[in-house]
Amino acid sequence: VKHLISIDDLTMEEIQEMVKISKKLRLNNYNFSKTNKNLTTIFFENSTRTKTSFLRAGQNIGMNVLDLNIQTSSVNKKETMFDTIMTVDAIDSDVIVVRSGEEKLLKQIVAEQPSSIILNGGCKIEHPTQALADFATIVDHFGYNLSDLKVVIVGDVKNSRVAYSNALLLNRVGCDVTFVAPDYMQLPDDILPFIKRSSNLFESIVLADVVMGLRVQFERDDYKIMDINDYIDNFQVDSRILGRYTSTDAILMHPQPVNYGIELDESIIYDHRNVLKEQVVNGLYMRMALLLLAQNRGF
Ligand code: CP
Repeated sequence: VKHLISIDDLTMEEIQEMVKISKKLRLNNYNFSKTNKNLTTIFFENSTRTKTSFLRAGQNIGMNVLDLNIQTSSVNKKETMFDTIMTVDAIDSDVIVVRSGEEKLLKQIVAEQPSSIILNGGCKIEHPTQALADFATIVDHFGYNLSDLKVVIVGDVKNSRVAYSNALLLNRVGCDVTFVAPDYMQLPDDILPFIKRSSNLFESIVLADVVMGLRVQFERDDYKIMDINDYIDNFQVDSRILGRYTSTDAILMHPQPVNYGIELDESIIYDHRNVLKEQVVNGLYMRMALLLLAQNRGF
């Protein structure tokens, strides 16, 4: 592993290795000694899970960690994202995790041959480390042979970097993936054309093994044409729908944060199919595994 911009930058062997390492890390109390390696997070957009789990992952494996506070940085003096990242690269970072609007920016940085390893902490199109956390969670429940596993990803597909990275990875291992959304939230047909599309949740969810809800991203799209009540009636996931339509071993996923009452009903909070917390925990251990592998640190 060197830089990670897209989930497609990783081979299946590398991803399976990370799942194995993450499980060993989760089951045992490993004590990593302190290193002189530096991890810096630069988040131009808000985050709770990705940022804190990268910082914790770095600490857990003995790295020095630093989060650049964008609010007090020279970004407020109109410094560009590019210059901001290259400045942090120049002051002795070994790994930089970036969340920004655009993958294009990360590709420009990589083209400059930075001394740091650049990891995508969630951009416009992709969120590769969320897909890694989700993959580890799916493997926990269904094992490594995932061919024909029925996965329904429902909600704001158009704005979802999580849906995109998950679709690339789950398609690679042979899952049967369907994006379910109203037309105004669906991805154009020419993007990820190998993924099925539907606007009928109740048909698509029949015998689904994995139902993955997505947050409606009101901050990116004002959805003037959205009828909230129509959305709730036709696309909101609740315990009753899961119990009535999905397979007996089905799990409910969501990358979080959740708009309760919009894409998920509160009835799912204590539903036995809800694995949202497992996704967060796997996010920590998969990021530890990624940081170890990216630096070629033996484990
Ligand atoms: N799932 C996810 O990326 O959450 P944050 O935005 O809180 O990092």
